[in-house]
Amino acid sequence: MKLKYAFNLGRVFTLSLAELFAVFENMALSFRLVDLYREVLIIEVEEKLDVVKLQKTLGGTIKIMQVLDSLGRKKFLSPSLVLKDYFDAKMLKEQFLSNYTGKIQIGISYYPMADPRELPIRGDNKRIGFNIKQILTAAGYSVRLVLPQMAGFALASVVVTNEHLLEKGAEIDLLVGMERVYLAKTLTVQNFEDYGRRDYQRPARDMQVGMLPPKVAQIMINLAQLPVASSGNLKHAILDPFVGSGTVIQEALIMGHKGIGSDISQKAIENAEKNLEWIKNRYKLPPGRFELFVADAKKLSENLPKIEIDAVVTEATLGPAYGTSPKPQEIERNFKELEAIYIGAFESFKKFLVPGKRVVVALPAYRTEKGYIYFPGIDKLAKTGYDIVDPLPEIVAEKYPFLQITARKSLVYDRKDQFVSREIFIFRSL
Ligand SMILES: C[S@@+](CC[C@H](N)C(=O)[O-])C[C@H]1O[C@@H](n2cnc3c(N)ncnc32)[C@H](O)[C@@H]1O
Repeated sequence: MKLKYAFNLGRVFTLSLAELFAVFENMALSFRLVDLYREVLIIEVEEKLDVVKLQKTLGGTIKIMQVLDSLGRKKFLSPSLVLKDYFDAKMLKEQFLSNYTGKIQIGISYYPMADPRELPIRGDNKRIGFNIKQILTAAGYSVRLVLPQMAGFALASVVVTNEHLLEKGAEIDLLVGMERVYLAKTLTVQNFEDYGRRDYQRPARDMQVGMLPPKVAQIMINLAQLPVASSGNLKHAILDPFVGSGTVIQEALIMGHKGIGSDISQKAIENAEKNLEWIKNRYKLPPGRFELFVADAKKLSENLPKIEIDAVVTEATLGPAYGTSPKPQEIERNFKELEAIYIGAFESFKKFLVPGKRVVVALPAYRTEKGYIYFPGIDKLAKTGYDIVDPLPEIVAEKYPFLQITARKSLVYDRKDQFVSREIFIFRSL
């Protein structure tokens, strides 16, 4: 039986897409790419997916939907016209509302699958919503509609959760392309509250050093494509040699892996220890899942416990933080200092990483008015014994020009208010 699923990707959608492809490849899922536009990927698979498990694993996916139907659309026809006589009470009940009685809450979200300026969708979700409400009311149901705010086409995951749409009704999604409209329903949404707690409630937070958002740490771990056998196996581990406050190891533990963290700073190790003890209690994780020690990443192999390192996942030291755009000389000086650390660290990884294992690393990229200034020593890093892995298959990157992959095969993650962005690379040990 063929099934179609749609994934609503996060704001930095290329990074989220790379994560999805890495996870699919790791679980040996064969799929057909049906459609892709910026924040939405539609795939077709032969088997039912465990979407609840997938949703928890994916840092970069906001919602997972099941696509129920695909209808042809002429250029001028809005989705409400395409679906004018489509819905009836029986099918709505069967497809979307099989478990509900009492007052029903229905959310309507539109996702553009092409440039939204060329699609007749503004305000159209209201029309579909009222049509559905009318049909259900006539059949004796009590319905409350939840529609996106004026500016948006889709409901935020916060709204889907807070309005209990998945427990008390449904979110009906229309994925609207130039020639097709896909009708879908939301199956799961990202647990934004839990990510928030994992970020802001940790006991030791060091704003000076800066912390990786937990979602990004999770994405980076997924990009490392750990062998499935490493989950729960205490003889295998993920290593973060610039552990800071421990975000990467925290996410590794939650995902079932063992984590090893080291840092040149005693204070950082103390902070990471506090945070990881906290997460261990919060998530009731079994003992023996993490080890921490003080070490310079350039001389790491001397102190490492004797277990198999399946991947290095790390936000390497990024140099100073900035509140305004730094001067070119300052950028040059920072990169020079960092280059010595990075090269030393990559050389030390070679002593224990067997060929094929990955190093997923975030490096600083400076955002200036003229664009990003990237770390210039990337080839020197690769020459210490690695190649750089394409974050997405070349054919996908070529087919969808809106994907944001740099010419040097990296992905940039940042927020608008930051001057130091994170440039993420996947290296493979040769
Ligand atoms: C950007 S922070 C990592 C933040 C971490 N991802 C988090 O979310 O908390 C970089 C860390 O690298 C450490 N560091 C700097 N130079 C180092 C070196 N040569 N070896 C190991 N750690 C180093 C710093 O002490 C700092 O804790």
